[in-house]
Amino acid sequence: MQTIVLATQKGGAGKSTLAIGLARAAIQAGHSVRLIETDMQGTLSSWQGRRAYAEPLVEPVYDARDVEQHLQSLAHDGTTLAIVDTASGTSAVTSAAIRHADLCLIPARPSIADIESAAATLSVVRACKKPFAFVLNQTPARGRRVDNAAAAIGDDTTSGMADVVAKPFIAMRNDHQDALSAGLAVSEFAPEGKSADEIRSLWQWVEAKLNSGITDHAEAGGKLADTRPSAQAARDADASWDACL
Ligand SMILES: Nc1ncnc2c1ncn2[C@@H]1O[C@H](COP(=O)(O)OP(=O)(O)OP(=O)(O)O)[C@@H](O)[C@H]1O
Ligand SMILES: [Mg+2]
Repeated sequence: MQTIVLATQKGGAGKSTLAIGLARAAIQAGHSVRLIETDMQGTLSSWQGRRAYAEPLVEPVYDARDVEQHLQSLAHDGTTLAIVDTASGTSAVTSAAIRHADLCLIPARPSIADIESAAATLSVVRACKKPFAFVLNQTPARGRRVDNAAAAIGDDTTSGMADVVAKPFIAMRNDHQDALSAGLAVSEFAPEGKSADEIRSLWQWVEAKLNSGITDHAEAGGKLADTRPSAQAARDADASWDACL
């Protein structure tokens, strides 16, 4: 079984929306998928409550001490992909999920505030030496803002950062919000729509990244992590070592 964790300190970046979208795309690609909800806000459970279909099952795991055993039992029962949705901020359960991830996805809206606030999450990901990628979400359909945001992450081939910015970017469209309200994934809500296309393509990118093997990209994110004030960086470093030793 492989485990993907969606995490970022910033609220509203799209963790839950992307978790649902990727889960459905992975099922369509043949995976047996479980969505793990570690966020007590309960976005995924509420979504499942509105949903007419059983799959993908949402399983709440709110205690950091339960994460490892829960993932082991899913693997034992034949699940091939676990997708973990986390709460905004940093927490023990988010760190535990990252510790067991094969890939961490860090959603960010194309704003400097979203990208900078991902640094605390990235420090945990780096301490755990986990592969990761940013997913630029809620991007405008056109304009320079997205390119500027990707540049802020460091998306240039010369430094190898192209590998840590997932493609395609996911544009801001009502389909995502309407699908969430209807208890559907966006590829169920509007299968022929551009949003569904983007999410399916994003799954292909993620799958290729998972299959490319475990490569430590943590150093590639150093530029972003180093943008924090030093006192905060020290606190984050302590927290991340607590999480991963
Ligand atoms: N690409 C998109 N286009 C339009 N709306 C979007 C998109 N992605 C997410 N949204 C909307 O933005 C809001 C926040 O998304 P979501 O709940 O997935 O973020 P989150 O990171 O899980 O938030 P939280 O930190 O509160 O858990 C939701 O209303 C969602 O429908
Ligand atoms: Mg959420």
